Amino acid sequence: MSFRVVVLISGRGTNLQALIDAAESYAVIGVVCDRPDALGLRIASDNDIPYSVVARRDFSSRVEQRAALDRVCDQFSPDLLCLAGFMQILEANFVEKHSDTLVNIHPSLLPKFPGLDTHARALAAQEKYHGATVHFVDTVVDAGPIIAQASTPIALTDSEDSLAARVLTLEHELYPWCVNRIAEGMVWRDGGTTKFHQSLKIPSHFRTFPISESSE
Ligand code: GRF
Repeated sequence: MSFRVVVLISGRGTNLQALIDAAESYAVIGVVCDRPDALGLRIASDNDIPYSVVARRDFSSRVEQRAALDRVCDQFSPDLLCLAGFMQILEANFVEKHSDTLVNIHPSLLPKFPGLDTHARALAAQEKYHGATVHFVDTVVDAGPIIAQASTPIALTDSEDSLAARVLTLEHELYPWCVNRIAEGMVWRDGGTTKFHQSLKIPSHFRTFPISESSE
C-alpha cells in the first residue's frame, strides 16, 4: 500500500499540484481545505482526489471547527499531513498528536521571516538570499525541525513579485523532494531534530538541517 499523503490548503494550491505531479513514493489521497472557494479545490477534483471543506462559518465555534478538522484528517488515515498554504493556526493538541507526521512549507529561509509578507520583508531587510523551507511543525507558527531549504540570490532589480515567483518555483521542487524522502524512510523526525538516512543523496542546491546524519 502506498504512503498516504493528505494536503491541507486554503488557497490557489500550486504546491498541492506540485505534490501531485512529483509523487514517486507516496500518493496524495486527500485534500482538506478551510475555504469553499479555494482555487486548489479544483486541482483536487481535476485529479480525482477526494477533498473535504471544513469552513469556519459552518461551525458555531472555532473549537468545533478544529474538532471537525481533526476528524476529517483522521478519516483519510494519513501517513503524512502536508500544510501547503493552510492559513489556520492549528491547535496545540492537533500539532502534538501529529508531531512526527505534520510538515509545512514556508516561503523564507527560516528562522528568518516567519509569518506573512516574507518576500517584502526579505527585500526591506536587504537580504542577499531568500528562499523556502520545509519543516516539521511545532506549536509555534513557522517553527519546528527544518528538513531542507532551497535558496536564491536576491537581485538589485528584484520586486516582491519577481522574488515570490522565483521562490515559488523552488517550493515546487523542494516540497515533493522532502515528502518523497519521508515516504521512503530516508528522512524522519526525532524529537527536536530531523534525521537523515546515511545513504540519502541530497541535491546540491538543497541544504538540509542538521547536515546529513546517519540512521544506524
Ligand atoms: C506558498 O508560498 C507556501 O510556501 C505558503 O503559502 C503559499 C501557498 O501557495 N505557506 P499555493 O497555495 O501552494 O500556491
